[in-house]
Parts: sequence; C-alpha cells; structure tokens
Amino acid sequence: MNPREELAQIACELRTHAEWLIESGATGLPAVERPTAADPQPVAGRPSAPPIARVPAVAPSARATLTAPSVPPAASPSSRDPAVAKIRLIEMADEIRTCTKCVLHGARTQTVFARGNPAAELCFIGEGPGADEDRLGEPFVGKAGQLLDRMIGAMGYARDDVYVCNIVKCRPPDNRKPEPDEMASCKPYLREQLELVSPKVIVALGATAVEGLIGTGGGITRMRGQWKVYRTIPVMPTFHPAYLLRTPAAKREVWADLQTVLKQLGRPVPPAGRSV
Ligand code: URA
Repeated sequence: MNPREELAQIACELRTHAEWLIESGATGLPAVERPTAADPQPVAGRPSAPPIARVPAVAPSARATLTAPSVPPAASPSSRDPAVAKIRLIEMADEIRTCTKCVLHGARTQTVFARGNPAAELCFIGEGPGADEDRLGEPFVGKAGQLLDRMIGAMGYARDDVYVCNIVKCRPPDNRKPEPDEMASCKPYLREQLELVSPKVIVALGATAVEGLIGTGGGITRMRGQWKVYRTIPVMPTFHPAYLLRTPAAKREVWADLQTVLKQLGRPVPPAGRSV
C-alpha cells in the first residue's frame, strides 16, 4: 500500500472510531499522561493502574491501523450477558421483518438476519442475500454458502459455531451490489448485531462487505490478507465464496487468510496445503 492510500485508510478508520465514540456518549478522548519528575514513582509490589484502552493484538501488518486510541465498547452490562444478547438478537430479527427504510424492502420475499452462534468468537460478513437466501430466510444457504461451510469446517469449527450475517438484510434485485444508501440504512442493524455478538474477529467476504463495514473502498485483491479494524474488532478481508466458485485458484489465498485468522484467535492452525 502506498503512503497516500495508507493515510486515506487511517483517516477512514479514525472517522469510524470517532463516530463510535460520539454514539457511545464520549465527550472527549482519554488523555495520554506522561510522567513528570514530580510524579511519584511506582512502589514495588503495588499494582500499577489498569490500562485505559483495550487494543486487540493483531498481526504486525495491522500496526498502523491499531494505534488510534481505543476504549472498550460502551455497551450496557445487560448486552454483554450472552443470554440477554441472544434474546435481543431474536427480537431484532423480528423487528427488521417489517423494515421499509430503503427500496430493497419492495422486492424481498423476506428479510435475512443471521445464522449461527450469537456468542461466537468469529463472525463472517457477506454482502447481501441472494435468491436462495431470500427464499429460505437464512444467509449463505446457496452454492456460495456451501463453500463457506467448507471453509468454516476446514478451520476446525462446526457450521453453527460461528456467526454469519450480511451488510444488507434484503436481497438486492438481480443480485446487484447494494447501493451506498441501502448499506447506510441497514448499518444500524449490523452495528447492534456486532455489539451483541461481540466477536473477537470478523472475516469480511468481498469488497462490498469491507466497504459496508468500515467504509474503505478498493479492490479486494489488494485488501485481502491485511488486517483492518471495525471499532476495536480486527477484520480480515478475503475473497467472497461466490468469487471462489468462479475462480477456484484463489482458494489458496483465502486459506492463507483464514490461517491468519486462526492464529489471531489462538486456535490450532491445520497443516499447510489443506485447502477449502
Ligand atoms: N452472498 C452473500 O453475500 N450473502 C449471502 O447470504 C449469500 C450470498
């Protein structure tokens, strides 16, 4: 990535972070206190002050994107309780059934909210429902979904260990890319979903998922394999399974990205050479 692109990406991530701080009621940024000569020195045996920020550990390539100040999500204690979060997710799925915030509602059969474990450590995000998903009301159930399930299995997870959702919850006609205003209308749902699930890592499937999630445009060929950040959650962009169906040779790169994700999660990494 050249310095201009890197700067644009950092600016974009800072904007996302600032929006989040505003939403979560922050009125300022935590000050970085530097010790002065007059400051008391730490006393041996006494615990030092806890850190004010939680910065997720990610691969060195992501360092530049993770130096922004970061505070723990300002969720209410109840939304951190997995049982309460699960109930709220069920409520949300029900609430969005009648959503008319964008034009996509006009052509849908039904909304498609999510599938999988509402307390998952790993979340996959796609672009939007296709014809099969629109018919069945569940994300990634068509051919691309079957490939995604094989990817999940190859990582050592059961299908329902992970959480799977999309940027938009209604099928764009003719499987076109969702428009920016459609992604923006749906974003509050995604934001709340991710806050409730609170995954340790997100895998963004394809360029539209990256754009809808963190606003960064660009080619997925260049973005894939490079950590990004949504709020404090590390995001790994990779190719969409539908692209892999057309371009099986790209599975090698996707597998490399998924291995990086497993390392980040501290999970066993299946031997090299295994493919999806
Ligand atoms: N493609 C997506 O991006 N999402 C789905 O749910 C299915 C196909």
